[in-house]
Amino acid sequence: MPENRDWWKRAVFYQIYPRSFMDSNADGVGDLDGINRRLDYLAELGIDALWISPVYPSPMKDFGYDVSDHEDIDPLFGDLAAFDRLIAAAHERGLRVVMDYVPNHTSDQHRWFRESRLSTTSPKRDWYIWKDARPDGSPPNNWESIFGGPAWHWDEASGQYYLHLFLQEQPDLNWRNPEVVEAMENVLRFWLDRGVDGFRMDAVMLCIKQADFRDNPPVAGDSPWKKLGLTLEPLHTLNQPELHHMLRRFRALLDGYPSRPVMIGETWLFDPAELAAYYGPDLDEFQIPFNFMGTRLPWEAAAVRDALEAYYAALPEGATPNFVLGNHDVHRLATRFGYDNHRSAGLLLLTLWGIPTMYYGDEIGMQDVPIGPAESVDPWGLRRPGLDIGRDPARTPMQWDATLNAGFSPPKAKPWLPLASNYRERNVAAQREDTASTLNFYKALLRLRREHPALQRGGFAFVDPVPGGVLAYVRSAEGQRLLVAINFEASAKTVDLSALGGAGELLLSTHATPAGAVASALTLGPHESALILLSA
Ligand code: NOJ
Repeated sequence: MPENRDWWKRAVFYQIYPRSFMDSNADGVGDLDGINRRLDYLAELGIDALWISPVYPSPMKDFGYDVSDHEDIDPLFGDLAAFDRLIAAAHERGLRVVMDYVPNHTSDQHRWFRESRLSTTSPKRDWYIWKDARPDGSPPNNWESIFGGPAWHWDEASGQYYLHLFLQEQPDLNWRNPEVVEAMENVLRFWLDRGVDGFRMDAVMLCIKQADFRDNPPVAGDSPWKKLGLTLEPLHTLNQPELHHMLRRFRALLDGYPSRPVMIGETWLFDPAELAAYYGPDLDEFQIPFNFMGTRLPWEAAAVRDALEAYYAALPEGATPNFVLGNHDVHRLATRFGYDNHRSAGLLLLTLWGIPTMYYGDEIGMQDVPIGPAESVDPWGLRRPGLDIGRDPARTPMQWDATLNAGFSPPKAKPWLPLASNYRERNVAAQREDTASTLNFYKALLRLRREHPALQRGGFAFVDPVPGGVLAYVRSAEGQRLLVAINFEASAKTVDLSALGGAGELLLSTHATPAGAVASALTLGPHESALILLSA
């Protein structure tokens, strides 16, 4: 790829959940050769970089986030040769590839952990977090697993507890041990040397634990963690100050590569100021500390505006904002925000000031697929029944066409999760042919974003006043001004453009409104949103 140190600032990222994108070998699970076959689709869609959720060898207790070997590919997904082919083919098309990196924990089947658990004197004992029981045999403190239950598992054979902030089969690494730091930094080098363009760092906020292992306090009544089923505030397990040192080391390592790989953090923090700290004091930590506010907000203009103002205001000088509206851990945006609003959500994501990360299938309006108890496989959902947390509904196979198995798997295979019941109508092949489809809406939007510097990197200002239920903003660069107006509600709204110069040209609407001149009053139909090039 051509060298350009700031390539990520202009990029649109697209997350692929590899189990569900494209199955090339009829085993019902997506794989690397499958992704490779669909690269032309991604290039045509107009994204710049793919982030692929883990493809490492894994017992799949957490579908790949339980890594048993950091330097290989699980046979389910292919092999290193398939990976190399994918990188080369992506690069040929100008697409970058970002890997998932899972530093907080490994699988209990990783050779490091197998060695660690052999005895208290194993040379790898201190690679994980082992503690004696309290005198009454109970765990060393009250920490709980994010997936439910105690975070400590008693290992009968070696007579100690080990820590797991996720599943029992996902023991936490001890990042205070320099040998772990070295081994895990070598993992980064291994993939960078193979040509990857960066990493999305999983659960990275949890890597360093409070040194004295203090008990966590009970969750406050309004704590966002409570909604996830936690009974304790993760005060001593999350967001420890020592993390910043570790992240600066990672960033320096990545910056040593001429391809300028990007460092993306899975930073689940609810306070914009805390999140902003992960850019680093000299913008020397994450280039993209994922901003997940859009996965929690209601579809309400005022709530979105308040959250945007708080986020933008908290950013350090020179930092580039970013937005995530959907991923493999939350409900589909077309379900959360309502199907009527799914294109508006896409317009918002791709026109705000900030780097967008899309989730596979959102570009055809995929919704949550109801998955019955007999077919549920997500360990989090299964452990937290009643919390509406199950992740299977947002991880179903990509809908490519109307054939049996939606072109995801050959007809003879059984996809690992059920397909959406409407896949025969809602799929890539059908939407390609339909000029009014969501796919063509996204393609036009991505093209307009590329063509207009104002959208990629322009200034940002809210437009006031606007009718209640509307959010409007102007992006501007090089004398060009683009207005985005989003109607969050089910009634028509009229936005007065006279203060903005009074006229413009409609470039794109979420609805069938034809492109063309716009006068000084812009009327948006129910749930309609528009992108307008304002007159100079
Ligand atoms: C965050 C990942 O996105 C999620 O899918 C996974 O279960 C946990 N981290 C544990 O690795």
